[in-house]
Amino acid sequence: MIYLDNSASTYFKPKEVLKAVNDSLLFYSANPGRSGHQASTKGALKIEEARESIAQHFNAPTSQNIIWTQNCSQALNIAILGSVKQGGHIITTENEHNSVLRPLEFLKSKGIIDYDIAFQQNDKGICLNDIKKHLKNDTYMIVCNHISNVNAAISQIKEIGKFCKEHNIIFLVDGAQSCGHIKIDIQECCIDFLTVAGHKGFYAPQSIGCLVLNDYFYPEPILFGGTGTNSLELYQPATFPERLEIGTISTPLILGLNAGLKFVEGNFKEINGKIDDLTTYLIYELTKMDITTYTNPENTFGVVAFNILDIDSNQVANILSQKYGICVRGGYHCAPIKHKALGTLQQGAVRASLSYFNTFSDIQKLLNAVKQIRKMAIM
Ligand code: ALA
Repeated sequence: MIYLDNSASTYFKPKEVLKAVNDSLLFYSANPGRSGHQASTKGALKIEEARESIAQHFNAPTSQNIIWTQNCSQALNIAILGSVKQGGHIITTENEHNSVLRPLEFLKSKGIIDYDIAFQQNDKGICLNDIKKHLKNDTYMIVCNHISNVNAAISQIKEIGKFCKEHNIIFLVDGAQSCGHIKIDIQECCIDFLTVAGHKGFYAPQSIGCLVLNDYFYPEPILFGGTGTNSLELYQPATFPERLEIGTISTPLILGLNAGLKFVEGNFKEINGKIDDLTTYLIYELTKMDITTYTNPENTFGVVAFNILDIDSNQVANILSQKYGICVRGGYHCAPIKHKALGTLQQGAVRASLSYFNTFSDIQKLLNAVKQIRKMAIM
């Protein structure tokens, strides 16, 4: 099998991640946030170490600003629904995933907020000017995807963040596709809320992510339940992370994420240098074959969208899987506005997404298969 669907989930994991998950199940299976006996405390200390690593990686003010979530989608929901302002206005972008668009549309359909979508005007991706033209007096939040999961379009988050800070607007960045590929400093980029997916750029298991909070805005809880603290109170605790973290958290997944983060930090140049090289090669060779590509060759983050003539993208993905053993994702990648902007609402797009564990030989096999599928189609 050749696995080129790493934007959906990385498949091959570093051995450090496997070991961390295994060790966690063997040695840290007590509930880390309850009870207080020695087995529980041992796990809680490991969780705290992981919070500390994530906080340092993103330059969050303290480890208490890291909120564990089930995935990036849940972190986005907490940030959006937990900050909602009746009658307010939000600006978002063409690159958003449904985990942003659906909560926004839900709030709009209930008459709670209104929102506008910014479209990119040039190859640099979403810039401040694209956002600014939608600004209203009651704009209280900008929600901006950092790197598109469809075609790796990148948003200029530093200039947008600075603008948000100057105008007291909450800046929420969806880092699902960028974390692990680009170093993000939430202070430098004036990000109020950053959402992180563990299973993509950090090679963690599925179902672990986090919400990274800065120090100026805090979402209200959208889920309520036990925290292991203030147990006699019927109110959710006021302190973080407990205020936003309910129920038992997953020690194996969190320790897996921490191991993945350390793997990426320790090999950052090598990992991303390799992904850059493979992406550049793939786009160059596809273009040479006259294949329509939707990824700017400068955006070498391992997400390459393309189509073969006018063949339905899911059909191409099925042929690649069944005939060539190559895993890619066709269709719409849960990003409908992006596909509208790319003009691929009919056909969708074939997306090959790479990880550090891919090789030139994987790319060559994909290219050979694409060449054959194209040849068959025009015969
Ligand atoms: N959001 C993930 C993707 O891009 C699942 O495929």
